[in-house]
Amino acid sequence: MDSKIKILSDKIAKAHLGGGTERIDKQHNKKKLTARERVNYLLDESSFEEIGILVTHRTTDFNMDKELYYGDGVITGYGTIHNRLVYIFAQDFTVFGGSLSETHAEKICKIMDLALKMGAPLIGLNDSGGARIQEGVRSLGGYAEIFHRNVKASGIIPQISAIMGPCAGGAVYSPAITDFTMMVEHSSYMFVTGPNVVKTVTNEEVTSEALGGAHTHATKSGVAHTTSSNDVECLEAIKALLAYLPQNNTKTTAKIPTELNDEIRTQLTEIIPSNANKPYDMHFVINGIIDNDSFFEIHKDYAQNIIVGFARLGGRSIGIIANQPLHLAGVLDVNSSKKAARFTRFCDSFNIPLLVLVDVPGFLPGTDQEWNGIISNGAKLLFALSEATVPRVTVITRKAYGGAYDVMNSKHIGADINFAWPNAEIAVMGAKGASEIIFKREINDAEDPISKLAEKETEYAKTFANPYRAAERGFIDEVILPQDTRRKLLKAFSMLEDKKVDLPKRKHGNIPL
Ligand code: HXC
Repeated sequence: MDSKIKILSDKIAKAHLGGGTERIDKQHNKKKLTARERVNYLLDESSFEEIGILVTHRTTDFNMDKELYYGDGVITGYGTIHNRLVYIFAQDFTVFGGSLSETHAEKICKIMDLALKMGAPLIGLNDSGGARIQEGVRSLGGYAEIFHRNVKASGIIPQISAIMGPCAGGAVYSPAITDFTMMVEHSSYMFVTGPNVVKTVTNEEVTSEALGGAHTHATKSGVAHTTSSNDVECLEAIKALLAYLPQNNTKTTAKIPTELNDEIRTQLTEIIPSNANKPYDMHFVINGIIDNDSFFEIHKDYAQNIIVGFARLGGRSIGIIANQPLHLAGVLDVNSSKKAARFTRFCDSFNIPLLVLVDVPGFLPGTDQEWNGIISNGAKLLFALSEATVPRVTVITRKAYGGAYDVMNSKHIGADINFAWPNAEIAVMGAKGASEIIFKREINDAEDPISKLAEKETEYAKTFANPYRAAERGFIDEVILPQDTRRKLLKAFSMLEDKKVDLPKRKHGNIPL
């Protein structure tokens, strides 16, 4: 028995060395943790159970049978984070650059299948040179097996991808399908074709970092939902995010008590500037409503005219969508509509109630917006919110103009409770634009058109720049004081806790993608 145990322990020791100490040192020199270090850091102490530690690849081409590494470039298994079961794979860059072979893919698929069967989140730590070049189509097939499983698991279990090294070519499509892509600054990049191909095809000179680094995807493409300055921060961000998510689509998140900060709440009355054209930071409103320091922002640096993220209200996880007057006056445009629509669909899939804070002057005008499809992209948000069956509550903090009033979780598209602050302005358009159209003749015929316009603007604003027309119709359920907002929301969401909506059977709707 002793000799047999020795064989086993030698094999395990070898597997733990991955591609060997030299390559591990290289990984550390790049300020990256190894795959095993990442897994151990992320999961609760001693909770990791590895599956397939002794798997090796089956390729014989190019003398590959002489180069066998246990694990074949990916560590897979299960464990817990804050005592909750999760399934995990971590690509090991020290073994063939973490490249994906047929067996490497099989290992990932095995734990994906388990995650789906057991209804627990799947976390993928990506650090890979892409398809195992020596394996050709077997590797491509392996990727497709993973993509297919990502799609089948979508909306059933939360799927989180961390990009902690290269992720190129078709490999990018697995993270893209998962719910969240979290990138590490300066050590990760994602692109379909790298700088060399870009140069050959378009003659553009671009670095990997500029083409597909964390900053690029966090600000320009929106592919990255969060960025972190190093591996440890990224792993901490995964843990933090997971705390807002349920295990699967049949569960709700656990209630976590948090402290309250009443000081901020009392200042809510002063946050809105008396001049309706002056911006303010909607984060202040968010922080004045939610449980202390509980906001986890998603897509913080992308389409900043809308804010989306998770928070706790009375200890329960909620999703927040809020116009941000500080950026582009909080207008809805192509990117902000897509950002909010995707977030809405995530929350709706996973039973996370939605709070929508509205201060929106309308949709952004212009050829750029029209040619880039503000019609179909704006429709995504309208569609996503309309079909969401989770508890949905709206607070209009200032403007709710035009089509954007409808889109931003209005009563008409199924919101459960709609509040407005006393300073809210709910109308087809702002007073100036409206007066120029409906009083055009009167203004042109006036001796002093400028003062006539001002007079008409005042008249229009007095009639419509308030929440009362909407409240009289019941489109607003209650006009509330800013300082009462938290209390009102706690009650509304508590009242809606057991909301149930039975929809007629259909395969799926046809959201304008
Ligand atoms: C096999 C690979 C590999 C790959 C890297 N390695 N990529 N082995 N298949 N795809 C190996 C290297 O031979 C090397 O082995 C080790 O991993 C580390 O690679 P280095 O080049 O030394 O590291 P570095 O300088 O950091 O560069 C990393 C890299 C580069 C930028 C990722 O390795 C690279 O460009 N690799 C090829 C990327 C690529 O073109 N992949 C295919 C993309 S297409 P040793 O033994 O020296 O340690 C694709 C299609 C997917 O993925 C389609 C899905 C539908």
